[in-house]
Amino acid sequence: MSGLHWESDRRLTAIGRTTLSVAARQAVVDGEVNMATSVLDYGSGRGDDVRGLREMQFHAHGWDPFYAADGAPQPADVVLLTYVLNVIEDPEERREALKHAWGLAEHLLAVTTRLTWDRSKVRGLQYEDGVLTNRRTFQHLFSPAELRSYVEEATGVRCVSAAPGIVYAFKNDDARLRYLARKIVPHADWLASDDTGSAIASVVDYTERRGRLPRLEEMPTEMPKLLVHLQPNELQRIVKKSADPEKIEAGIRASTLSALLFLTVELFNGRGPYSSLPMSLQLDVRAFFSSYKEACMRADRLLLKLRDDTYVRGAMQASKVGKLTPTALYVHRRAINQTPTVLRLYEHCASIAAGRPASWTVAKLRHQGRAVSWLEYPEFDTDPHPKLHSSYMVDLTTLKASFKSYEVSANRPLLHRKHEFLAADDPDVPKYRRLTQSETRAGLYRNPQLIGTEDGWEAELARCGRELRGHRLVRRRGAS
Ligand SMILES: C[S@@+](CC[C@H](N)C(=O)[O-])C[C@H]1O[C@@H](n2cnc3c(N)ncnc32)[C@H](O)[C@@H]1O
Repeated sequence: MSGLHWESDRRLTAIGRTTLSVAARQAVVDGEVNMATSVLDYGSGRGDDVRGLREMQFHAHGWDPFYAADGAPQPADVVLLTYVLNVIEDPEERREALKHAWGLAEHLLAVTTRLTWDRSKVRGLQYEDGVLTNRRTFQHLFSPAELRSYVEEATGVRCVSAAPGIVYAFKNDDARLRYLARKIVPHADWLASDDTGSAIASVVDYTERRGRLPRLEEMPTEMPKLLVHLQPNELQRIVKKSADPEKIEAGIRASTLSALLFLTVELFNGRGPYSSLPMSLQLDVRAFFSSYKEACMRADRLLLKLRDDTYVRGAMQASKVGKLTPTALYVHRRAINQTPTVLRLYEHCASIAAGRPASWTVAKLRHQGRAVSWLEYPEFDTDPHPKLHSSYMVDLTTLKASFKSYEVSANRPLLHRKHEFLAADDPDVPKYRRLTQSETRAGLYRNPQLIGTEDGWEAELARCGRELRGHRLVRRRGAS
């Protein structure tokens, strides 16, 4: 087929959908699409994302060469380019479409494509660098790492993988750094306040979580007005008196670690000067380190530790949370921030490289080689033995990513001893531990090689004459 002039019927690739695309949802969740931003959906197809975003009161409009081509597309703060590049068969035109979208973006371009593991769903013949389907549509499936470098090359800026198959290119590097800081520093939210009392409570809460007083510029816009009657040192005095010193200590530890994580992750991108840091991080560095140089040196040492197998394994053994197996440490999402810093860095590096999926339950960090899998168990809280729904794995040494769905598998892998994935003070731990104890007493863990999948586990339950009622193990009806 190569060499023949052929044009795919791209119109047919636009399918209707009733909810927002994962790409549009991600941009909303990340706060990049908000009430103050305008959005252009470039290659908007049947316009479902535009409709969905407008229903949420966002300022969105779309442009599509087949469906909405009245006039030229207009620039916007955020441009979404969703499932467009993968349907363009001509590599030159594909790059042009990307460049054109980049030219229209004033703040952010969010590029989303289908990924290589959809290959089994795309039936057809190989054509140039993709597949020609029997509906005469074309698909070039990207790997997450390929997508990121493709967008970096066309835009000339450093990009971030916001999720698998979604890459953000920011017009201004400060915006990229602010985005990263928001992802890495998880304790930057503010309590709502509508009078002076609640504004003070909110400042106290921030101070406890961040380990330092906020600057006026860090506060939500309405707050300085509520605090205007107080002199700055009066506010400091009140906060000092009301804040819990132990919480402040914990806040200092958390902020120091987050700043280190940020600086280490930034090392991959060629770390900039102090003045390039987002303002809040500059203030953290000033408050918690003797100098920016010292902070950078500590971050460099942290990165060296991530490369050291003995150190990483030691950190896994010392971790107060997570289940250590002969190959990896498994940690629940709720406990991931309580792992040693080098392990938090490990997980962050994988997410920056290839995107962390929006929904995941347990992270698996390998201790030989460097690979992170995000495992999804949607019923973790309600199912005593949650079944694996999907796994997304990123190998940090090769940057290869793979995805496996178990949704329709007949004999899915499942979890035991759920408490081991969580922190000891998690409110669900006592319930899970009690169940594990009764299962051990009933002899259900005698054949560990059998119980890792649904069928084997069911067979062992039957052998032991037991069944589960919620998180309680009971005698099976009719069993002696
Ligand atoms: C798979 S659809 C995706 C539509 C929409 N973004 C969505 O996610 O539902 C691909 C769309 O890309 C549009 N398209 C094809 N070539 C394009 C180009 N060179 N520039 C902009 N859009 C293009 C097609 O018209 C089609 O509507």
